[in-house]
Amino acid sequence: MHISIIGAGYVGLVTGACLAELGHEVVIMDIDESRVEKLQRGIIPIHEPGLSRLIEKNALDGRLDFTTSLEEAVKASDIHFICVWTPPLPDGRADLTAVESVAKNLGEIFSRLTPPKPIVVTKSTVPVGTGARIREFIGQSYHEPFAVISNPEFLREGQAVADMMRPDRIVIGGDDEEAVAKVSSLYDAIQAPRILTDLPTAEMIKYAANAFLATKISFINEVANVCELVGADIDMVKEGIGSDPRIGKAFLYAGLGYGGSCFPKDVRALQQFSNHHGYDFKLLKSVIEVNEQQRQLFIDKLRRHLKDLAGKEILVLGLAFKANTDDVRESAAIDIIRRLQAQGAKIRAYDSLALLTAQKVLDGDIKYVGHPHDGAKGAHAIIIATEWPDFKDLDWPYIRSQVANPLVVDGRNLLDAKLLRELGFTYEGVGRK
Ligand SMILES: NC(=O)c1ccc[n+]([C@@H]2O[C@H](COP(=O)([O-])OP(=O)(O)OC[C@H]3O[C@@H](n4cnc5c(N)ncnc54)[C@H](O)[C@@H]3O)[C@@H](O)[C@H]2O)c1
Repeated sequence: MHISIIGAGYVGLVTGACLAELGHEVVIMDIDESRVEKLQRGIIPIHEPGLSRLIEKNALDGRLDFTTSLEEAVKASDIHFICVWTPPLPDGRADLTAVESVAKNLGEIFSRLTPPKPIVVTKSTVPVGTGARIREFIGQSYHEPFAVISNPEFLREGQAVADMMRPDRIVIGGDDEEAVAKVSSLYDAIQAPRILTDLPTAEMIKYAANAFLATKISFINEVANVCELVGADIDMVKEGIGSDPRIGKAFLYAGLGYGGSCFPKDVRALQQFSNHHGYDFKLLKSVIEVNEQQRQLFIDKLRRHLKDLAGKEILVLGLAFKANTDDVRESAAIDIIRRLQAQGAKIRAYDSLALLTAQKVLDGDIKYVGHPHDGAKGAHAIIIATEWPDFKDLDWPYIRSQVANPLVVDGRNLLDAKLLRELGFTYEGVGRK
């Protein structure tokens, strides 16, 4: 089938590359000229395992192309995927400016080209009711039959290609059965349960999924905080409750809380649109509050050891919002660094993938180091802010010999506490004995 993908970010690029790999003809469109120009030259603007290879292969085979022209992309396609960003507004609502502008433009282009019953699919995460609004926007200028479908995306950054090719489920919502079947058939080569439903339900599934996962994280963080007070150990508690299949072990990692481009914004957006419809989603208020509190408790822990943070040299290991990505959007590490800077701490920072992306968003005098060992000399504390597995295998005896004060505050419960204590470090995790 011929497909246009609108928005060449994490979701658009991965969706486009995977659909091309499944044999479809795909044109990916973005308004960002420099991004498109790079993609045309084979430079992939994001880090995602397996993505470069997939893009290169399918572009060479002539199944994948890039453009800045929406009209060109639409002309070549029957199904149009909206994959643009939906960032949070200051009050937490999703900013739908890009989605709405794409919908309006699609309506105008359809009215010029009069394609045979185009199908518009939303992959961007959008509040319930947005599909209906997209239909209205397109209908303002296009009066022939067309369909609007919701096909929310559940990929995880860092393993997005694998998630797209082997998803847990494919959700497709819409009231036009023929269009739903057509979108479902795009994924015929993928073995995964199909959840076929209506537009609002599909839109809600995405928010409910992210809000539930965020709730799990805030829950385990609160349990970890109590563990610290009562002398229990969160690692064993996680084992003990996670072994129950009704609970499961996934997303039960205590630490600095959730971050990234999706969870924080989606939890707030669900809270906002519930409110807008007259429902006070009390649980989500607490989920957000706990996530915020987790970072402050972490700083408090550091202060308990260092007293005044002013002038203290702090080595922050990890800047990405999670391991295996270069994405620092809403990263707990970035937030922690800003809070430390506000208290006068001097920051040295390391990340194996996210140094460049972090430098674009952080201000102040930060010493970025090419290896964790390079930041150890004279440090008063080392913070683990992202769960990069490599940090476990650092030469901790060497680091111990370099630091001014042997303190490790592990915001991801990543390191071997016993080993570090044996080396003479003061080790603090989150809820760990
Ligand atoms: N990143 C994830 O892990 C993930 C997972 C599932 C769902 N989502 C959702 O998918 C959507 C996209 O997320 P992302 O992470 O890919 O975003 P992103 O910021 O990586 O990419 C968005 C892209 O859209 C482009 N864009 C903006 N306005 C445009 C317009 N009018 N026309 C064409 N292109 C336009 C931008 O230039 C950018 O390249 C969001 O709604 C997000 O919540 C993201």
